[in-house]
Amino acid sequence: MNNEQAECGPITLRLQALGESLDQYLRFEHPDAMSRHTQWHDALQQSLPEKGVGIAQVIAELGSQIIPNGSQIPNPGCTAFITTGATTAGVLASLAGSVAAPQRLGLTAFSYLEELSLEWMAEMFELPAEMKGLYSSGGSVANLVALGAARQWAFERIGIDPSRDGVQRPCRIYATATSHHTVHRAAAVLGMGRNAVVTIAVDNEGRMCADALRQQLQADLCDQQLIDAGCLPVAIVGNAGTTNAGVIDPLNELAELAREFSIWFHVDGAYGLPGILDPQVRPLYKGLEKADSVIVDPHKWLGAPVGIGATFVRDRSLLNRAFTQEASDYLEGSVTDDNIQHSMDGLGIPYYNFGVELSAPSRGAVVWALIREIGKEGMRERVCRHNAMARRVAELARAHPNLEVVQEPTLSICCFRYVLDGGDDANDLNALNKKIHRKLVHQGRSIPSTAMLNGVLAIRPCFVGARTNWEHAEQLVEDVIAAGNELINTASKDYQS
Ligand SMILES: Cc1ncc(COP(=O)(O)O)c(C=O)c1O
Repeated sequence: MNNEQAECGPITLRLQALGESLDQYLRFEHPDAMSRHTQWHDALQQSLPEKGVGIAQVIAELGSQIIPNGSQIPNPGCTAFITTGATTAGVLASLAGSVAAPQRLGLTAFSYLEELSLEWMAEMFELPAEMKGLYSSGGSVANLVALGAARQWAFERIGIDPSRDGVQRPCRIYATATSHHTVHRAAAVLGMGRNAVVTIAVDNEGRMCADALRQQLQADLCDQQLIDAGCLPVAIVGNAGTTNAGVIDPLNELAELAREFSIWFHVDGAYGLPGILDPQVRPLYKGLEKADSVIVDPHKWLGAPVGIGATFVRDRSLLNRAFTQEASDYLEGSVTDDNIQHSMDGLGIPYYNFGVELSAPSRGAVVWALIREIGKEGMRERVCRHNAMARRVAELARAHPNLEVVQEPTLSICCFRYVLDGGDDANDLNALNKKIHRKLVHQGRSIPSTAMLNGVLAIRPCFVGARTNWEHAEQLVEDVIAAGNELINTASKDYQS
């Protein structure tokens, strides 16, 4: 078989070999990639091949050198990131799309699922009926698209088209210090600048303080300098699940203020929107129905492979004006509006005009597969389990003399730390918990992250992985206690000797 035939050869046989390597990887019986760094680095450090080795060799190298030295993220004991390993359905649907519908263009079943899966998510997460969605690569772009809509709306109200004419005045976006920094970057990319983001104070639980927001809005309205510069309030950003502690802002109060001051209300639910499925926390989402835009990342709690975020807005024509590429000649005449009989007679819904991507994969089939596989019930079970696991960690921490809850969990994140009797100063405890964290990471069984909350360094597990279960939560607590005890014992032996 020559190279060209192999490149386009049947997939089944290769998939079998690849699947075995992937299943082997997911058993996590192998050492961490860095412990074998020299071996795979030497094996992979090759110059540009003049002649190819063929697909069998490529699959063999994937299986021997690359897959076994992959990431810890899909490890069920890894609770460090707010993204996780994809479920099997997500992986396979992604593969199906990359083979059978490499673009979301055209009148295909895949393109149909793009819209259907967005509708399913909107319904599942109780978004207003008129909200329509758009997929993008993740929360960063989803926030950018939402704030692009907000910018368009705010400027059109004063007779300016910012996507055509640019932003020539200062803008204001109201958020908190714990809002994700992709909000700041979106402000920068949209020409408003990171400094447009005003930080509003939070209460003791880390939720945006509605009174502080009101004061800031009123102060900005009366600020002569801002008035003279034509400053424009563009958006209030509420968090439905902050990244470091899973906090939900008082969405209803923020929505009311947004209405009173005629400002766009955006909700960042990249991580936490699925939390609405848990009856125990559902009331905290009151006000979501008043949002002008909402984002959620299927590649977080829903278990999609990374590369899938979604923005929902009430009016997609606003997105069209915010992100249009303007008419072009290159596809002129390629599609027809009447007598549609072929999948290439039309391009389907023009998502490419609603955001920043033209070429984009079929993400809808992935989200469809995830929801179709386990249904809303299965999603609810996962979310409730993970939230309950975070509460269990808090319960275990409260019950142990050497543990302390730093922030009570709202969703599936619990920030806690190891403490000592006898009131060591905060810096010592921060240093100790940092060491505990490094020790856990290197042991490789429980891999949380850390988070800084009001100057306190906490151990922060975020339970989102479909493979992450009760035993991982309890194991983590045991591992923190054991690592803390060991570090303290070693330190006191060093001191005595
Ligand atoms: C609340 C929130 N918003 C936005 C983002 C950005 O998402 P992504 O990493 O998918 O771009 C994150 C990522 O951690 C997040 O936690």
